[in-house]
Amino acid sequence: MTPIFLCRVEELADPGTRNIVLGEGEDELDIIIVQTNGTRRAFVNSCPHQFIPLETFPNHFLTEDKKFFVCSGHGARFELSTGACISGPCLGKALDRLHIEETDGGIYLTEDLPPADIARSKRAARPLVVIAASLRLATAAREQKSGHDPCEERAGKLRRDEGGHIQRVDSCEGRRQGAGQSHSRIGE
Ligand code: FES
Repeated sequence: MTPIFLCRVEELADPGTRNIVLGEGEDELDIIIVQTNGTRRAFVNSCPHQFIPLETFPNHFLTEDKKFFVCSGHGARFELSTGACISGPCLGKALDRLHIEETDGGIYLTEDLPPADIARSKRAARPLVVIAASLRLATAAREQKSGHDPCEERAGKLRRDEGGHIQRVDSCEGRRQGAGQSHSRIGE
């Protein structure tokens, strides 16, 4: 397959990461590129515990000391060089590695399969019992990345238009719609 450009080497700190998403919906392949000690590697951004993206906030994949990936779901930590889980609920499993090559300072995905096929095959390999839970968690994670807060939606501050896009209700309308409702983030 023709190599697919992901980013340039100089866009990465050392240690540092870049998040690249190819495709969308069922075809979406979410990729973490990490640079450490002058070497670049790529992994699928999907925690082997519940198959959700590792990060809650954009491009926050590393522990504070930048020595490991950390999953914001339940705190699993992974080696930067291999993607192997070294602590947490998926100990013994690993992030899926992707093949990359570098040409003229560019980093390219060089898998045999197109990104959409990789994404679908990874999904098909998941245990059925976690698919429903992971879909819910992945949707919540994606909405949080995009600034959508489900609590705000329930309180009437956000609504979806006919196309399913999130829109903020003006404050007066939000108060009218939210009148009489109460909610708490604690314990949700
Ligand atoms: S989903 Fe990553 S540690 Fe649970």
